[in-house]
Parts: sequence; structure tokens; C-alpha cells
Amino acid sequence: MKVLITAGPTREPIDPARYLTNRSSGKMGYALAKAAQKRGHSVLLISGPTSLDIPEGVDFIPIESAEDLYQAVESQIGRMDIAIFAAAVADYTPRTVADQKIKKSGDELTLTLKKTKDILGSARGVIGFKGTLVGFAAETENVVENARDKCARKGCDLVIANDVSREDIGFDSSENEVTLVYTDRSEVLPRDSKEHLAYDLVEVIEQLDRKASHLQSFEAISPRD
Ligand code: PMT
Repeated sequence: MKVLITAGPTREPIDPARYLTNRSSGKMGYALAKAAQKRGHSVLLISGPTSLDIPEGVDFIPIESAEDLYQAVESQIGRMDIAIFAAAVADYTPRTVADQKIKKSGDELTLTLKKTKDILGSARGVIGFKGTLVGFAAETENVVENARDKCARKGCDLVIANDVSREDIGFDSSENEVTLVYTDRSEVLPRDSKEHLAYDLVEVIEQLDRKASHLQSFEAISPRD
């Protein structure tokens, strides 16, 4: 299978010296890329800046901002069977980027932000991706409910939810505990290293993809009324 994986944080520039970012280390996405490659898939990893080594045998596109990530996904996703969105993407970016470093002046500084494009939310409708679509949900409350809502609204086959209010899992930790959230059910995968969890997740996603392909071929041979 051809698998696209997004990983890491985005950086939204404020001026030549500063940017807005988040706590993603890229560990979850890179572990998924490594596991998928080891299980025989052809993997494209699209990642924001991290300190991690690119897993062996994986194709790689580096990005910085949410807009860069959108452009890279839009140009590559059409040839993919599976897309997994593990990147922590900025929801807002500065409306303007200053040409010169902003000088210290008054006691307060106001930055105006504008919404970024929702890449996962564009995959089905705007971009027209037909393969198996897996999102992540970084939640701090009502984890399963919020993830189920995301799954339905964004046309995902699966949303992998993690509680990022916990220090021991989620952002930057070597371990995670996730809930697999489908539109009609959910299942907890207990705390484990991101490396181990990634193998389990890739297996789950392979099964989903096989089921979807069977359904498609069944629909193709079923007589229509
Ligand atoms: O990188 P690590 O330190 O290992 O941490 C892993 C992780 C916590 C970053 C990862 O497991 C995770 O939860 N990634 C998703 C983070 C996130 O942005 O969640 P969200 O609930 O805000 O977004 C939901 C989904 O939409 C995600 O699949 C995200 O990639 C995607 N998204 C979000 C915003 C946007 N503009 N475009 C998107 O595609």
C-alpha cells in the first residue's frame, strides 16, 4: 500500500525571528512511518521541524507552516491508499508577517490571527481523497465525544484520540495511550511506547483498508435496483 503520514508541529511565522508553534515532537508520526515501512508499505512522511532521524526507507517532505503542509498533502494524497494525519497543525496563523523583527515598544502587543485551512477536513470534499482516512484528535476534555464528532464531520474511517492534558502521554512523551474512535464504537489501546503502539495502529488501519476495499468490490458487482 502507499501510505501518507503527517507528523510533527507547524511553525507559523510572526517576523524573521519568531514563530508560533506547539509541543509536538513528531515521535508518534515517525513511529507510525517506521512501523508502516517495516510492514512492507511504501511510506511518504510529511513533517514539520523535529530533532528526529527520518526512518530508513521512508520518502520525506519537510514543511514549516500549516499552509506548506496543505500544499504538500494536496499534491501527494491523490496517489495514496491510506492517509494518517498525526501532525499537530496550527489552527490559526498571524494575519500578516512583519518584514523586519518587531521592536519592543509598548507594554502590550496584539497579534491578529486568521484561521488556517483544515487539511484533514479538506481531504474528502475539497481534495477528493477516496482512500482510508485516519485523523488524530488531541483533546483535553470529553476525549471520545470530541473525537467521534471529528470522525463524522471530516469523513474519517478512524480517529485516534489522545488526552494531551496528561504529562505522561501525548505531546513529546515516548509513550501514549489512545482510544480508537469510529463513528459507531470506540476501543482503548492501553499505555505503551509510541513505537509499540504504532505497530498495533498500522495493523488496525490495514484491516480497515482491506474492509473498505472489499466493500467497494462488493458494491461494484452487486446488481443495482
Ligand atoms: O508529536 P508527538 O510529540 O509524538 O505527539 C503526538 C501528538 C499528540 C501530536 C499526536 O498524537 C496527535 O494527537 N496529533 C494531532 C494533533 C492535532 O492537531 O490534533 P487536533 O485535534 O487539533 O486536530 C485534529 C486532526 O486534524 C489531526 O489529525 C490534525 O493533524 C488535523 N488538522 C488540524 C488542524 C488543521 N488546520 N489541519 C489538520 O489537518
